[in-house]
Amino acid sequence: MAFTPKACLFDLDGVIVDTAKYHFTGWKRLADELGISFTEEDNEQLKGVSRVGSLEFILQKGGLVLDNDTKVRLMERKNSQYLELVETMTAAELFPGVVEFIDELLAAGVKVGLGSSSRNAPLILELCGIADRFEVVVDGNSITFSKPDPEVFLKGAHYFGFAPKDCVVFEDAVSGIQAALNGKFRAVGVGNPQTLSQAEFVIQGFEGFNLAKLEQHLS
Ligand code: BG6
Ligand code: MG
Repeated sequence: MAFTPKACLFDLDGVIVDTAKYHFTGWKRLADELGISFTEEDNEQLKGVSRVGSLEFILQKGGLVLDNDTKVRLMERKNSQYLELVETMTAAELFPGVVEFIDELLAAGVKVGLGSSSRNAPLILELCGIADRFEVVVDGNSITFSKPDPEVFLKGAHYFGFAPKDCVVFEDAVSGIQAALNGKFRAVGVGNPQTLSQAEFVIQGFEGFNLAKLEQHLS
């Protein structure tokens, strides 16, 4: 039977805009300062994970136990570096085809929302000039549980009043695909099919992608 989504919920970092590389740079610098090795592979596991969850992962990897004040200071330091990196960001850093796809959804009456673990999500949307396209933005400021918990997407679906099965989640993170599946959403991976093998299907990006293809893949 044909599937028509009622809403699409997009992750931000690594799906709409290439900020995943800036998060990696920030964490890598911090890990280097602490003398802890931190690779691209480690970073893959941190995609979609909250700021505090990411710090805990790095500290655990290095066997470091720190008091709360120090952890808060380290997170502030990573975040200021991240903010410096994104300061000059513009719409030029949006992934090709993503805005066109979102506009096609909106024109077809499909609701569009954001589900991101980042507390900086509203700022990034503003910098890229796309904030007005999202009727609801659920971000790191409004959730208690980080992906793979489905809270961030459930809040979006609840705002629209739709069942998760009628909503599609677009995610570049393993934890994000798990969050979508844990919440009983339809899950589309954006990125590497091997890494995102739990997704219902994976696209490399939005160029050449459209609503008809989405419906076809999810039917
Ligand atoms: C996620 C990113 O979207 O947000 C993670 O994938 C990031 O890499 C997390 O650590 C938290 O972001 P922020 O901006 O609140 O530190
Ligand atoms: Mg992401």
